[in-house]
Amino acid sequence: MEKKNIDWSNLGFGYMVTDKRYVSMYKDGAWDDGALIEDDKIVMSEDAGVLHYSQSIFEGLKAYTTEDGRIVCFRPDLNAERMINSALRMEMPPFPAERFIDSVVQTVRANAAWVPPYGTGATLYVRPLMFGISPVIGVKPAEEYMYRVFVTPVGPYFKGGATPIAIKVSDYDRAAPRGTGHIKAGLNYAMSLLPVMEAHREGFAENLYLDPATRTKIEETGGANVIFVDEDGNLVIPTSESILPSITRRSIHYVAEHYLGLKVTERVVTLKEVEDGHFREAGLCGTAAVISPLGCINDHGKEIMFSNGMEKVGPVIQKLYDTLTGIQAGRIEAPEGWIVEICKG
Ligand code: PLP
Ligand code: COI
Repeated sequence: MEKKNIDWSNLGFGYMVTDKRYVSMYKDGAWDDGALIEDDKIVMSEDAGVLHYSQSIFEGLKAYTTEDGRIVCFRPDLNAERMINSALRMEMPPFPAERFIDSVVQTVRANAAWVPPYGTGATLYVRPLMFGISPVIGVKPAEEYMYRVFVTPVGPYFKGGATPIAIKVSDYDRAAPRGTGHIKAGLNYAMSLLPVMEAHREGFAENLYLDPATRTKIEETGGANVIFVDEDGNLVIPTSESILPSITRRSIHYVAEHYLGLKVTERVVTLKEVEDGHFREAGLCGTAAVISPLGCINDHGKEIMFSNGMEKVGPVIQKLYDTLTGIQAGRIEAPEGWIVEICKG
C-alpha cells in the first residue's frame, strides 16, 4: 500500500481530513450496524442536543507502525471502557466495548495509507466521539446519538517535542468534586479554553489545575495527567477523584514497576511538596502528550525548577519514555493484551 505524500517528520498536532470514518447511529433504543463512510461533514438539526446542552464525549488513542512493519494500536480496551463510563455519566447510551474496538480497527485499516511510517516520530491519532443529535429543547438527554471514529496523522502535542516545557498553576478550576473531571466529556475542555489561551499568551505550554475545594492538591493539566520522580528516583503519581484516569499514566505505573524496577506510589500530592523541592523530575502524560518532560512549574511568579532544567530530559522520565514508546513501536515486548494488531503497514 502506498503511503500519502506527507512530510511525516514535521507534522504538528493538527487535523487533516483522511479517507474514511466509521459512523453508527443510535435510534429507537438501539445502535445500528455502523459503516465506514467517506463524508467528513455532519448534518444535524439546529436543536441537536449537543449544540445546547453539550452532550458530547470522546476518546483519544493512537495507531503506530512497529519496527517490523505492522500497524498496531495500544490498549483500546481501556478506551472502550472509559467511553462507556463517560456515556453513563452523561446519560448517553454506551457503545459496546467490542464494537468500539472493531470500529477503531476498521477505521485505522481503511486509512492505512495515512499511518505514519516507523521512525518518523509521527503517529495516527484516533478520535472516537459520541454526541446527542436529536432535537432537545427542555433540559434532558437526546433520544438519538451519533458515534463516530476518525483518524488524523499527528506529530508532537507540545512544540519542540521532547524538550522540557513550562506550565503555570492556574487560578481557574478544571473540575468540581463529584463533577465530570473523571470522564472525557467535551465540557471539561470547553472550560479550559480561556485558561489555556491565557497561559499561552503568558508563555506557558499548559495549566496545572489544583483541587477546587482546598486549592492545595495537584490535580492535572488541561490535557494530561502529571507524574513526579522523587529524590530517590522513584515515581509518585498524584491521585484525585476528579482527574481523567489516563491510560498512559496507568501504563507508566506498570512499566515503572515491572520493567524498570522503580517503586511507585499513588497518593495525594500537595503543591507545597512540589514547592519544597521534593521532586527531582516531572512530566505530563497522555496519548497526545506521550510523556512530556516538565522543566518548570510557575506558581504566580515563583519558579519551581526541576533538576533537568529547560534544556535536558531527566534520566527517569527519559527511561520511562523510552520504555513506553519502545513497547508501542514493538521494540520492547509488551505485556499481554497491550498491543492490538490491525494490519500490515
Ligand atoms: N487528562 C486529560 C484531561 C486528558 O484529556 C487526557 C487525554 O486523553 C489525559 C489526561 C491522558 O489520558 P490518556 O493517557 O488515556 O490519553
Ligand atoms: C489525548 O491525549 O488523546 C487527548 O484527548 C488530549 C487532548 C488534549 C488532545
